[in-house]
Amino acid sequence: MDRLLTGLQPSGTLTIGNYAGGISQIVNYQSDYETFLFIPDMHAITVPQDPEALHRNIINAIAMYIACGVNPDLPNMHIYIQSENLYHANLSWIFECHTPHGELTRMHQFKAKSALHETFTEGLVTYPDLMAADILLYDAKYVPTGIDQKQHVELARNIAIRFNNRYGELFAIPEPLIPSIGAKIRDLQNPEQKMSKSTTNPKASIFLSDPEKVIRKKIMSAVTDSDGVIKFDEENKPGVSNLLTIYSVFTGSSIEDAVAKFEGGGYGDLKKAAADAVVEKLMPMQEKYNDIINSGRINEILDAGRDYSNKIAAEKYEKVRKAVGFGRI
Ligand code: TYM
Repeated sequence: MDRLLTGLQPSGTLTIGNYAGGISQIVNYQSDYETFLFIPDMHAITVPQDPEALHRNIINAIAMYIACGVNPDLPNMHIYIQSENLYHANLSWIFECHTPHGELTRMHQFKAKSALHETFTEGLVTYPDLMAADILLYDAKYVPTGIDQKQHVELARNIAIRFNNRYGELFAIPEPLIPSIGAKIRDLQNPEQKMSKSTTNPKASIFLSDPEKVIRKKIMSAVTDSDGVIKFDEENKPGVSNLLTIYSVFTGSSIEDAVAKFEGGGYGDLKKAAADAVVEKLMPMQEKYNDIINSGRINEILDAGRDYSNKIAAEKYEKVRKAVGFGRI
């Protein structure tokens, strides 16, 4: 079985963007691949985190994956926490020593995040090396993500190719898997931007744990435009296109069918249908989420994932360690 791997940062509550770009893809592919699904808590501290909240977000995220349809009982499913596997940081260090600084500071996400603060940590710069380690330790062939992480997966590819050329065949070359619909769910209040977990605008993001009333209110007050025409045009009509995308992600409809259904109508009808679709999917998930949190199963799932991921990562790290000349022969 080929391997598929992805991670979602526990830096806040998961959004419908994370569902569209990450979780729903895992659910679709989980029967076909050996799947490594991990919580990148080490990535989360590239910006300040409250330790209590970080612990909580980790457990909540696992419960939410399962509530969304990730099946922890599949023998080919491995769910684990990044910091419980020390090989990620070890391999990242080796990559940091092989990646030119300029290659890291050219990353879109680094530019966007570093611009938000007067100072930033070195971890924010070297973050893509750690992400490359996350992927390459497991020879993952496919990495499902939203469009925002594509550049980081491409860097991981480049690192793998560079290492293979310099030290001999060490790593499989990973490919990003970007969904055709929902690769970038947009901020409801500022549709030029992607929807984010860490937004400060309370109406901008729909969280997977939002109550029905809140979901409806947020979608009904989403920013659109004033020309009153329903069509899919992400550049000129990002707000309306976002609503069509949300409707499609949550009903399984194509964008063309969604446009055909709503064109000629008002924005209110589209918003109501998008809200209905999100509510219909999220309400049963939230019920399941509470059952999982109360089931006491999460530790058992994470222990198994930790042990398996360490076993695979140890074998790869040993090869890399030898290849770069560390330690004794
Ligand atoms: P993160 O935590 O920001 O996002 C988790 C996943 O959700 C996707 N995503 C979106 N997709 C569509 N629309 C959006 N508005 C949206 N917002 C987020 C992301 O693309 C991602 O798939 N660096 C990664 C975590 C990571 C990782 C990895 C991923 C660490 N190591 C190795 C894959 C492989 C991140 O910050 O994702």
